[in-house]
Amino acid sequence: MTYEQAKSLLESNNQSQVLRFWGTLNATAQQSLLKQIASLDFASIERMKAMLAQKAAETALADPIAPEVVEFTAKTHAEAYTAGEQELRAGKVAVLLVAGGQGSRLGYEGPKGAYSIGPITQKPLFYFHSRKILGLNRRYQTRIPFYIMTSDVNDAATQAHFAEHHYFGLNKDDVIFFQQGVWPALTPEGKIILDQPGHIFMSPDGHGGTISALEKNGCLADMQKRGISTIFYFQVDNPMVEIADPAFIGLHISKKSDFSLKLCAKRDAKEGMGVVAIRGDHFEMIEYTELTDEQANRRTANGDLYFKYGSPAIHLFSFDFLKQEANRNMPLHIAFKKIPVCADDGTVIKPEKNNGYKFEKFIFDVMPDAKTVVNLAFDRADEFSPVKNAEGSDSPATCKHDMQAKWRRWLAANSITLPEGLPLELDPACVLDASDLKKGLLLETR
Ligand code: UD1
Repeated sequence: MTYEQAKSLLESNNQSQVLRFWGTLNATAQQSLLKQIASLDFASIERMKAMLAQKAAETALADPIAPEVVEFTAKTHAEAYTAGEQELRAGKVAVLLVAGGQGSRLGYEGPKGAYSIGPITQKPLFYFHSRKILGLNRRYQTRIPFYIMTSDVNDAATQAHFAEHHYFGLNKDDVIFFQQGVWPALTPEGKIILDQPGHIFMSPDGHGGTISALEKNGCLADMQKRGISTIFYFQVDNPMVEIADPAFIGLHISKKSDFSLKLCAKRDAKEGMGVVAIRGDHFEMIEYTELTDEQANRRTANGDLYFKYGSPAIHLFSFDFLKQEANRNMPLHIAFKKIPVCADDGTVIKPEKNNGYKFEKFIFDVMPDAKTVVNLAFDRADEFSPVKNAEGSDSPATCKHDMQAKWRRWLAANSITLPEGLPLELDPACVLDASDLKKGLLLETR
């Protein structure tokens, strides 16, 4: 793109301020700004501006209803488990990790998956995810493809981290990285924000960009070539996740589900988890930032939270459903944030108050299109302890505690009791569950 083309594009979109420092930039900075301008998605920016204009006039929506959830019995669990194992053995399952976000709440600079969480080995989050896949590959004599979504802010560092750790034992060809998109932030007046004289402030466009990014980067075609029919989706921050849980997969297949979700009881009304709801004739997720106080605190007659179950973002998608949704125009979600801005004299200001709007798309917004949705309840002690905050709840300390408590339960199931307080860590490539301990596989203690 030339300067003239950029100028005319920006003028026609009423965003000429982006070039206001042009004359002060050196040639490299000019080229990099032109590259950013060329990448701008003006159709989406128009949707963002329309959303800003509508913000004042929020439309009233039908009251959401809490959905039914499936709870396994020993018998239904065993049946589903066997069906899921067949799917894994047949090589029809892929794993999809969204890791394009920034670990800002944790205060960690690098890719969040590189954050150390092993109670003894200090191994990173990526290690635990990858080694589980390796464990499944060994158990089911298969090669599960592992698709990892990164973003502009962490792609190079994520790929370097995997290479440095030799893909944690996985076959390099089965670890597929792909990048999501980035979007600019807007002022309340709908203007694109410069955070340096030659740089537009950009941030990841949310994990709602996953499906289109899978399509754009050839990953859906790759899945098709590999004969994938079920995709297990999860987030980077939860090392307790039971990746490709056979029982979950078996249930999903038996119900011919497009989109299945694991749900667990929320700790309290305020816990930051999305909730599944039925609105009108479809399912949808209400993100915690969008749940009203009344909805969050609503109780049933017996005192339970009405929206009792939260989503830990552990999903299964059918391949056909993902393919169908690849070109969908996802709704936008808006957040008012502190965005660094470049003042007219070229200095960069870090604002004390929120000053601009960031926009994101969320993957669960495809839910209303799903013909069949399955909501499976599970016990959070077994599978959910995310690392979100540096301290307090959902922190590295609580996560390490919960991981070790789970491993201790597996040992106890095999009549092994360790002295209280003794640190414990198991390698998921060798121990996927308590049954592997029975087989006398590796146990690391110190
Ligand atoms: C998220 C879910 C919430 C759920 C909770 C469970 C969203 C919007 N909300 O909240 O419903 O109950 O987790 O722990 O996801 N990511 C990207 N690209 C992006 C943004 C995020 O790949 O542009 C990834 C992150 O790397 C992370 C995941 O999405 O793996 C979740 O992002 P995060 O911002 O941590 O979501 P939460 O607010 O914790």
